[in-house]
Amino acid sequence: MPDNSNDIFGIGIESSCDETGIAIIKNGNEIIANPVFSQIDLHKIYGGVVPEMASRMHLEKFPALLQEILNQYRSEFNRASYIAVTVRPGLTGSLLIGYYLALGIKTVLKVPVIPIHHLEAHFYANVLDNELFKNKTLEYPFIGLLLSGGNSSIYKVSGLGKLELIGDTLDDACGEAYDKAAALLGLDYPGGPEIEKRAKSFYESNPELKRGNIETENPLPKILKDQNRNQCNFSFSGIKTALYYFIRSNPDHDTDHLCWCFQERVFDIIERNVKHALSLTKFKNLVTGGGVMSNQTLRKRISSICDEMGVKLYCPSPSLCTDNGAMIGALGYYYFKENVIYPHENVISSKTEFFSSY
Ligand code: KG4
Repeated sequence: MPDNSNDIFGIGIESSCDETGIAIIKNGNEIIANPVFSQIDLHKIYGGVVPEMASRMHLEKFPALLQEILNQYRSEFNRASYIAVTVRPGLTGSLLIGYYLALGIKTVLKVPVIPIHHLEAHFYANVLDNELFKNKTLEYPFIGLLLSGGNSSIYKVSGLGKLELIGDTLDDACGEAYDKAAALLGLDYPGGPEIEKRAKSFYESNPELKRGNIETENPLPKILKDQNRNQCNFSFSGIKTALYYFIRSNPDHDTDHLCWCFQERVFDIIERNVKHALSLTKFKNLVTGGGVMSNQTLRKRISSICDEMGVKLYCPSPSLCTDNGAMIGALGYYYFKENVIYPHENVISSKTEFFSSY
């Protein structure tokens, strides 16, 4: 589509954890450029993100990513009307690198810097290029389901910046549980993609499961904690402990089988909370985001819940489930249009941001 003078360009900057990202977004939903450098290989040997190393890597990578964007999209960059940057939650050192990059760009472009709450931005990954969903706008109110390496939360979202936390994790975040389960099973970090791959391979080579004979195949317990009627909290530590004891007393276990068992039990917890949040609120839109949502089996499972309950599901393209600058630029566009430059005061944050290393 050719550019016209009414087009609004914006820059999105992300550095809250171990992804370094900078993007140019047009009119809030079109990605012009979205290079992301993932630091996974750097942190892999430590089994998780090392904060000091993450900050140093952002410092090294941002100039290269910025140059890459300027080489190809200098005119769009120069036309940017706002700079959106993640300011929370995240690793302080890493956030500061992104924030000071935003301030540096501001001195050149002379446009506002819009501080963005990273968790809210995950939902706006859905308005970007998406094979499933073509409307390119979110319908309020919606239930926001965020499942990532640092957070597992459910929000009631009634508008831009209007988020009410109705579910959080009582212990591990969902992706964190995957990563810890992978470590117990001797698999690489990050655990999610590897556990998903092995679970799928187990499922596909097991005719009993395909016939729907599920319960007989899973020795791990269903752990669904009792909770207050108005809450949808997650807890993943029990299933992780059950996995630990199972591995200890069954040294000859089949790793693919255990990946499938663990994953099914994690999905049981997610499924219960999603159903509960939807029936509690009667909302007809479910908007998802975060790295765990790139799991294809989980997407199918949540999609069938939505079909059953007559709810419209929004799932970002898998590459936009993980952290990136585009989703920051997309959310920034809406705040810019509303002329809200300090939006994050309105966002109720997830408790996990204070407790986890995220
Ligand atoms: O959103 P994200 O990139 O940000 C952080 O919180 O850093 O999520 C990363 C998390 C990791 O814990 C990873 O194991 C998990 O998402 N993850 C997955 C899958 N892909 C990534 N979990 C389950 N299945 C996947 N396919």
